[in-house]
Amino acid sequence: MRHPRVLFGLWLAAACSVGAQQVHSIGNIFRPLGDSADSVFRISVLTLSICATIFVVVGGLLTYAIIRFRSRAGDHATEPAQVYGSNQIEIAWTVIPILIVFVLTMSAARVTSAIQDKRAPADAVKVTVVGHQWWWEIRYPELGIVAANELHIPLNSKTNPKYTFLTLESADVAHGFWVPQLSGKTDVIPNRTNKMWIDARELGVYLGNCSEYCGTQHANMLIRVVVDTPEDFDKWVAAQKTEAAPDEATGQQTFLSLNCVNCHTVRGTPAQGKFGPDLTHLMSRQTIASGMIPNNARNVRSWVSDPQSIKPGNLMPDMQLDEKQLEQVSAYLASLK
Ligand code: CUA
Repeated sequence: MRHPRVLFGLWLAAACSVGAQQVHSIGNIFRPLGDSADSVFRISVLTLSICATIFVVVGGLLTYAIIRFRSRAGDHATEPAQVYGSNQIEIAWTVIPILIVFVLTMSAARVTSAIQDKRAPADAVKVTVVGHQWWWEIRYPELGIVAANELHIPLNSKTNPKYTFLTLESADVAHGFWVPQLSGKTDVIPNRTNKMWIDARELGVYLGNCSEYCGTQHANMLIRVVVDTPEDFDKWVAAQKTEAAPDEATGQQTFLSLNCVNCHTVRGTPAQGKFGPDLTHLMSRQTIASGMIPNNARNVRSWVSDPQSIKPGNLMPDMQLDEKQLEQVSAYLASLK
């Protein structure tokens, strides 16, 4: 098993190694860059300010009472006067909390329904995201594309509004889809379809996580949202639509002769497995192992030779390939651009 620090280093390298694309910091709900994240941010600020005010008032009164009424030399050793049943005080500490809870509930309900009621514009990008232990399947049903772990969406701008509507499903257990700078969390539940939408007003890569504990590798079920200009997005779509064009005929033969095909699809070949990620355009992705390590020929080879050492517990078995098979399969995979 690798040392966690090595894994963190790999992850950091993966997070930074995407060339010119800006990687937006992970987990920062206080720097929203999408419409629904804005609403989440505003309601967080409202809630935090109300809570901070309560903290200051209660803490202040408490501190005042502790200092003002502390025991002093020369005090009588008897109990102070006990005050019972002040109507004003009873009413005040009943009504004020009710009002606070009412304001918080109503504003949360307003924001939640405003987000949920948003209608998909005619040109919205529609994506079905399927949570698996421990990776994300990303389907664009209207475009005929299947990807994994990296969700490409077009940039949303005032002049060219672009929204992406997600249908969330799970293949196994409960997961959660969360890209903090783009929107709040939505649970991904087996036998249930949840909906959400996202948009992003800055180009770059947004990092997210699975937000619902789903087993050993929950923490390594990372999401990347790649925000492209509408032109780049169309180019990406066109490239993904094509069938695989590998230049490794021997490698392909070896790959197709192995059990790999039971779990993986490479469009344009007999490999039609659905259990693992679609590999048709494997090398167009920035990372493998659901965001854990940078995607390059060397890491693909390490992954194929011993996936369990990189991501212990993941559902890809060690295929026990001999040196020659490993060489051919890795070369084939690395040619799936
Ligand atoms: Cu999937 Cu946690």
